[in-house]
Amino acid sequence: MSLLSREIRANFEGHLKPGSGEEELLGQIDCQRIPRHVAIIMDGNGRWAQKRRLPRVAGHRAGIYSVRETVETAARLRMQVLTLYAFSVENWKRPASEVATLMRLLKEFLRKELATLLKNNIRFETLGRIQELDPSIQKELAIAKAKTATNTGLLFNVALNYGGRAELVDAVKQLIACKTSTDGSDFSINEEALASCLYTAGLPDPDLMVRTSGELRVSNFLLWQIAYAEIWVTDTLWPDFRMKDFFEAIIAYQKRDRRYGGLSSQ
Ligand code: IPE
Ligand code: IPE
Ligand code: MG
Repeated sequence: MSLLSREIRANFEGHLKPGSGEEELLGQIDCQRIPRHVAIIMDGNGRWAQKRRLPRVAGHRAGIYSVRETVETAARLRMQVLTLYAFSVENWKRPASEVATLMRLLKEFLRKELATLLKNNIRFETLGRIQELDPSIQKELAIAKAKTATNTGLLFNVALNYGGRAELVDAVKQLIACKTSTDGSDFSINEEALASCLYTAGLPDPDLMVRTSGELRVSNFLLWQIAYAEIWVTDTLWPDFRMKDFFEAIIAYQKRDRRYGGLSSQ
């Protein structure tokens, strides 16, 4: 067993529930080929609550547990980047009360989880039009980012007021601003230049995109970056998503043959 595998296995010691199947699934994961970047569309909170005859917001609250377990699992697996889709630019269409609860839960989460993020060497960042969020949220986000800025472990990215198309518009605006601020002579528009203006500049593209609740669509998430991501969809609703589900996604990912338009390496 390699040093990395040993280290990863040790990270999970005392955290695997006996009889849950987690240990067997972890055993099936090739620790040398953990996806560098996993992006997750956390969907199904409302349906989870509906099934229990609870208000939708109960589903959002229950989903926080899944976020915590998923972030911890990613860190233990020594993943580089985990991006969670928490609020889209389209989600403003929902009733104001639901939006307000989501924002309140976010604030609560940031306050409660900061210590755990620090303890686990996790760096917190966001992607999306943060400047349009309530100033009290912006403040909380800025604190979490500043306090974790020098952490060197997992990068935990939360997509907030995020839209893939909005991101492309913002990137193009930035590119044009760049062009007009220089004399333009050494300026060219190419994939690299555009990618460097995205919210994800400098990060590897997602290797794996997970969507919960069985919906077969990308809902305006990371449109540019998922060009060659492997997609894994589960019927599990987000509040039921656990370490075991995350392991299953990674195992499925590791069985895929990523060709990038070329020929199979096998
Ligand atoms: C995902 O759950 C959370 C957000 C989009 C904020 P939903 O609230 O979309 O739950 P469903 O899809 O209605 O079940
Ligand atoms: C996607 O879920 C957005 C987030 C998870 C934040 P939605 O519930 O908003 O997506 P649709 O409406 O089913 O496409
Ligand atoms: Mg939904």
